[in-house]
Amino acid sequence: MGGVLLRRSLRQREAHDPRASTPNTSEQRTRMRKLIYYIATTLDGFIAGPDGQSDFFPIDPDLMAAMNAEQPETVPTRLRAAAGLTDAENLRFDTTLMGRGTYELALKEGITSPYAHLQQYVFSRTLTTTDPHVEIVSGDPVAFIRQLKQQPGMDIWLCGGGQLAGHLRREIDELMIKRYPVVIGAGIPVFAGQFDPVGFTLIGTRTFPSGATVTTYMRT
Ligand SMILES: NC(=O)c1ccc[n+]([C@@H]2O[C@H](COP(=O)([O-])OP(=O)(O)OC[C@H]3O[C@@H](n4cnc5c(N)ncnc54)[C@H](OP(=O)(O)O)[C@@H]3O)[C@@H](O)[C@H]2O)c1
Repeated sequence: MGGVLLRRSLRQREAHDPRASTPNTSEQRTRMRKLIYYIATTLDGFIAGPDGQSDFFPIDPDLMAAMNAEQPETVPTRLRAAAGLTDAENLRFDTTLMGRGTYELALKEGITSPYAHLQQYVFSRTLTTTDPHVEIVSGDPVAFIRQLKQQPGMDIWLCGGGQLAGHLRREIDELMIKRYPVVIGAGIPVFAGQFDPVGFTLIGTRTFPSGATVTTYMRT
């Protein structure tokens, strides 16, 4: 199922989609695309409150400026103008993966294509209709991502949430964790699912004025 959807989506992309980007550096043309889980968490490992709250994350203008400069494509389309990113090129990612829970945040605001400058895949076995620029994937996420990685392109951003990340935990090549200095006690975890340890190796960490850190790990 995932393979059929992926082939169909790639054909559509090649035929019609102006956002489809051709890898433009020799490195992008030759290396396999990485799946990168880029996410904001609390110190106690939550990406949102129990009801999806996120307003407890402190605002750190320096961190935001650094992230906007390095991966402007992770700023939602509706916020790009305010961030001065209207015409920003995609620098690292050309594709994003969302679970239905994450995508629904946008739907609740009446937005059906939250990252219009990216190829968007939403994993769901219940959603049927959506935006023509968003592909719903109801099949196995692992099989789907393995095929997607074989296609030419930039890296693939796993946007969230915890359930989808739990299913894909063994497929993640890199973690980029924005960890904010707040403890919330309960909420939606970075990874949901069964006990299943996967090792990662530290690549680097940066500390910002608010006390937030951005730490990058690759799968060991
Ligand atoms: N802090 C951050 O940076 C950040 C980033 C993104 C999201 N979030 C937060 O994360 C929360 C959502 O996370 P979540 O863990 O509750 O949900 P989620 O992972 O976004 O979505 C879960 C849904 O994805 C679908 N899904 C999961 N596994 C699947 C599979 N194997 N095959 C097909 N579909 C599958 C299912 O949809 P169906 O039930 O329709 O089948 C499932 O209900 C939101 O509140 C959002 O605020 C935070």
